[in-house]
Amino acid sequence: MRSLSSLSRRPSQMLLLLLLSPWSVWAQLSAAAASSGTPGTPDCPEACACAPGGQANCSRRALPAVPAGLSRRVRALLLDHNRVRALPPGAFVGADTLLRLDLRENGLRWVHARAFWSLGALQQLDLSANQLEALAPGTFSPLRALRSLSLAGNRLARLEPAALGALPLLYALSLQDNELPALAPGLLAGLPALRALRLRGNPWVCGCALRPLCSWLRRHPRPAPEAETLLCVLPGRLTLRPLTALTDAAFGHCAQRLAPRDLAVVYALGPVSFLASLAACLALGSVLTACRTRRWRDTALGPLRRALDPGPGSPAAAAQD
Ligand SMILES: *[C@@H]1O[C@H](CO)[C@@H](O)[C@H](O)[C@H]1NC(C)=O
Repeated sequence: MRSLSSLSRRPSQMLLLLLLSPWSVWAQLSAAAASSGTPGTPDCPEACACAPGGQANCSRRALPAVPAGLSRRVRALLLDHNRVRALPPGAFVGADTLLRLDLRENGLRWVHARAFWSLGALQQLDLSANQLEALAPGTFSPLRALRSLSLAGNRLARLEPAALGALPLLYALSLQDNELPALAPGLLAGLPALRALRLRGNPWVCGCALRPLCSWLRRHPRPAPEAETLLCVLPGRLTLRPLTALTDAAFGHCAQRLAPRDLAVVYALGPVSFLASLAACLALGSVLTACRTRRWRDTALGPLRRALDPGPGSPAAAAQD
C-alpha cells in the first residue's frame, strides 16, 4: 500500500516508466518504491555513502549496475571505478534532479539510446576511460541542460551528430584518446555554446572529411590549449601537419558539396533544357522548310503560273477583249 501511494506522488516518473522498455520497468518500479525513505532522512542508495549536499558516493564499490534507490535528493552521483558494463533504458529513473554523473572507469561497453532519459537537469557527465565503441542516435539528446561531456579514453571510431543531437548549453566536450579519423560535418553545428573541445590522441586523417573541423578550429582561435598539437597521421603529404595550419586552400581539391536546392535546380535544368532545345530545333526546322518550299514554288512554278494566269496586255488578254 505504501509503495503504491509513493508511486502516485510521481506521475511524471510513472509516465516515463511506461514509455520505457517493459523488461526494465519492473526493476525500476521496485527501485522507485524503495527510494521513498521516511520523510526527513536523506534518501541514499544502500551501497553508497551520502553527504548532506546531495552527493551519493558510490565510487570503488565493485558495483555491477547503477544502484537502486536513486531519488530526487541525489544531486551528484559518483559511480566511478565500478563494473557497470551496460546502461539499460531508464537506468537513472528517479534521479531526475541529478546535476552531476561520474561513470569513469567502469569498462562500460554499451549505453542504450534511452539510458539517460529523465536526466533533463544533468549538467556534467563523465564517461571517460571506458570501452565505448559506438553511441546510438539520440543517446545524449535528452540532456538539454548539459554543460560538460567527457567521452575521453574510449574506442570511438565514429561519432554521429545524431548521438549528441542539439545540446544548446554544452560548453566543454572531450573526445581525446579515441579512434576518430574525422568529425562528422553536422556534429559541431548542433553545439552553439561549445568553447572547449579536446581532441588530442585521435588518428586524424587530413582528407576532405576533416574540412569542417579545420575551419571550426580556425574560427575558434583558442578552442583547446592543445589545438596546435593536433596533427594529421594521414595522408602521406600532410603527415604531422597541424590541423590548424590547414586553410581552405589545402582543401581546394575537395569537391564542394551542392546544397539540396542547387541539386534540385541542376536536376530540373537538364530535362528542361533538353526539351527546350528540342522544341527550338523543331521550330527552326519547320520555319526553314516552309521558307524553302515557298522559294521553290516561286522559282519553279512562277513562269508556269504566269503562263496560265496572264496579266492585262498579254496576247491572251487581248484575245479575250
Ligand atoms: C568516495 O568514497 C571513497 C571511499 O569509498 C573515497 O576514497 C573518496 O574520497 C570519496 N569521494 C568523495 C568525493 O568524497
